[in-house]
Amino acid sequence: MNTYFITGTDTHIGKTAITCSLIAKYISKGFRVGGMKPIAAGCYIEDGYLISDDVRKIIEVSNIDLNLDEINPYRFKPPIAPHISFKKNKSEIDIRLIQNNLLSLQKETDYIFIEGVGGYAVPLSETISTADLIDALNIPVILVVGMKLGCINHALLTIESIMHRKQNICGWVANRIDQHMLAYEKNFSFLKERIKAPCLGEVPYLNNFNPHIASKFIDISKLNDKGDAF
Ligand SMILES: Nc1ncnc2c1ncn2[C@@H]1O[C@H](COP(=O)(O)OP(=O)(O)OP(=O)(O)O)[C@@H](O)[C@H]1O
Ligand SMILES: [Mg+2]
Repeated sequence: MNTYFITGTDTHIGKTAITCSLIAKYISKGFRVGGMKPIAAGCYIEDGYLISDDVRKIIEVSNIDLNLDEINPYRFKPPIAPHISFKKNKSEIDIRLIQNNLLSLQKETDYIFIEGVGGYAVPLSETISTADLIDALNIPVILVVGMKLGCINHALLTIESIMHRKQNICGWVANRIDQHMLAYEKNFSFLKERIKAPCLGEVPYLNNFNPHIASKFIDISKLNDKGDAF
């Protein structure tokens, strides 16, 4: 199916950065690649459209034309958890719409990377969680670990939750979001030993982050669609 869900250890740890790097990597191998971010908060008006920075970056890096409403049907201005915005707007997320949008995108692409919102346990609406969305889409997960103090706890809890749902973690990426992290190597080797799913790479801290440069640190040959996580 070649569609992956990108989740992370937290908000602001590099999900978009790694989603775009994976897209760039597969494009460099000659594939047609796109991305989705079904729900986005913190959007702003540009050329009359509500758009988020994450979605703009995904559109920019992809090599197929992406329709904003298709890849990001739910957009909210306030940078807050989406279930609060859905409640305030008296609206509800329609997972079938996201499934249908994905189905039509899959017809035009070889690979699709879908970025979640915040971390794995973030509720999307009053009734639906990120985990429910992954279940409904039935796609494997790639975990982005934002390498900073506390990331071991966040990474292990996230993996436990994913495994509890019997979802498939096909790889993880160590993203050096904090260039001053102490004992980086020791933290990294602990995670590498502990997590059975393959580490697809260590992305260094990059000034003016560029997904094409970051993609050189990711090894997609290690992706394992059927791996156990621990
Ligand atoms: N390896 C890196 N080196 C330097 N800067 C990075 C790196 N990874 C991400 N960043 C920067 O950190 C910030 C947060 O990254 P990003 O937007 O990808 O996080 P996110 O997890 O997608 O956040 P959100 O939860 O808001 O979607 C961005 O400014 C991004 O450019
Ligand atoms: Mg993001």
